[in-house]
This record gives sequence, structure tokens and C-alpha cells, in this order.
Amino acid sequence: MKNEITFKEDRIVEELFKDAESIRNLNLACKSGTTDWDLFSARGKIMATLFFEPSTRTRLSFEAAMKKLGGEVIGLSSTDSSLVKGESMEDTLNAISMYADVLVVRSSSSIKTWGDPNCIVINAGDGGENHPTQSLLDGYTIWRYKKSLSNMTIGIVGDLGNSRTIKSLVEFMSKKRNIFTTFDSTGLGNKINNDHVEEIYNIEDIKEFESEMFNFDVLYLNRVQNERNGIACESKFILQNNHLNDIKNDCLIMNPGPRKEEIPANISDSRIKMWEQVENGFYIRMALLRYAFGKNKNLA
Ligand code: CP
Repeated sequence: MKNEITFKEDRIVEELFKDAESIRNLNLACKSGTTDWDLFSARGKIMATLFFEPSTRTRLSFEAAMKKLGGEVIGLSSTDSSLVKGESMEDTLNAISMYADVLVVRSSSSIKTWGDPNCIVINAGDGGENHPTQSLLDGYTIWRYKKSLSNMTIGIVGDLGNSRTIKSLVEFMSKKRNIFTTFDSTGLGNKINNDHVEEIYNIEDIKEFESEMFNFDVLYLNRVQNERNGIACESKFILQNNHLNDIKNDCLIMNPGPRKEEIPANISDSRIKMWEQVENGFYIRMALLRYAFGKNKNLA
């Protein structure tokens, strides 16, 4: 798709992180009352949020980001659009591109079926395939602590056959000499290993996950995707207090949300960064919108 916003180059990722950091500092200064918000990079622009699958974090962080930048938001879900009358996804997005400057789209169908609308498109999750802005905010969260995205051992638990957040994270981090140790919570499929050649992506799927936990710089836990393929099961891995003794003091325990049983609500530890991921999504999506609108002068 020619108008999809992507961030495959290192210099773009670095600049987005720097911009998100400035936005974060400005937002915190505003909250403490030491300054006023003065970043209006989306004035006169309209963003359409087209979420044909449920979302809390992605949709509302994009909408909050756009409003914070002074732009306007319109939106649709699958039940209130003409998709219910049988209109194609391609025609739907083409129609909305007549009104909006950017489309933020989540769908159970692959982005390959969305056509080529004549405005900027941001993929907010396409089926079990991709969730690129989630991997950007996950990477930003890691970078804030580790000052790097390289040379880490990343333990991943989840539904490897269906999780777009896991697939996108591995793709995003794989260029950086990271090692991925995965444990498939469903045991029903390993899309990452199936889709990628192991010479390029250093992925090892293991059965004895607990015995490797002392190695992890990042422990990325994700839920079983019960909404896909009719699978209905619980995670085989559930974080417990005894695991917290086994992992490194500076290991980041991450979860893209929504969390389910894999991180029980009664487990509390400063290494759990789940809520920071949610907050960082707000800053990183503001940085992404500024980039999309050509308002980041370092990326012009
Ligand atoms: N991580 C994520 O995509 O969350 P939502 O489904 O709530 O947007």
C-alpha cells in the first residue's frame, strides 16, 4: 500500500523516539503546572479511526493523541458502517479518504485487502498479521530503560500462531542482533517460526521456559487470542511470585494488553512495565502523527 506510514529505517525510529521523549517531557511539565501545552501539529487535520475489531488502548491513544495535537477525529466501527450492507473494505476506505487526512484502521482482514486509499494509512492491527505501532511503542519502552534495542535475549510467551503483537515485535527487534526465546502458550502453532527463516531471525521455541528465565532482558507476555480460530483455552504460562526471584533485576516484564491470566492482577513488581506501555502509546502515537503530517522537521 503506497500511503501506509512505515518506520523501517533506524533513523526514523530514532527520531520518533526522540520526539516521543520531548512530547513526554512536555506533557509531564504541563501536568505539574510548570508550562502550558503548545504543540499543535495537527491543526486543521482530520483523523478517521476505523476500528472493525475491538480496541481500548490503540483507538483511544490515537484519538487522544490527535486531539492533543489540535486535530479533529471522526470514526466508525463495523456495526455502524456500510460494511454491514456488504460494501467492500476497499470501497469503505476509499470513501472515507475523501473526508480525512489520515485513516487509522484495525480489521480482521489483512492490510493487503484494504486497497490503496488516497490519504495516509496507519495499520492499527490487521488480523493475526501485524500491529506495527504496538511494536514501535514496545520498542520505545525498551529503549527508555536499556538505551538500546540491540543484543538482548527476549523471552516471549503467548499464542504464537495468532498474536500480531508478538509477530510485529519480533520483526521490529530482529534487525538488532537480539535472541528470541519463545514458549507457545497454546501449543497450537508457531507463526513466527513458520513465516521466517531462522538464519535471519534468531528464534528458539522451547518447552522448558522457566529454566531459561534467568537469561531474559525482556520478558514479553501475551494472552491467548481466543477471538481467533475459535480457540478457547487458558495460558499455559502464568507469572508467579517465584518467577520474580528467577529473573534479572533489570528484566523488563511487558504485556501489550489486554492482559488476562498470564499476569495475575495481584502480582506486583517494579519490573512490570505494562502500564508504562499504555502511557507510552500516547506519546509515540503523537510522534507518529507529527511525522505523518510532516511536522517533525528532522524527518522532513
Ligand atoms: N495492545 C492493543 O492493541 O490493545 P487494544 O486492543 O486495547 O487496542
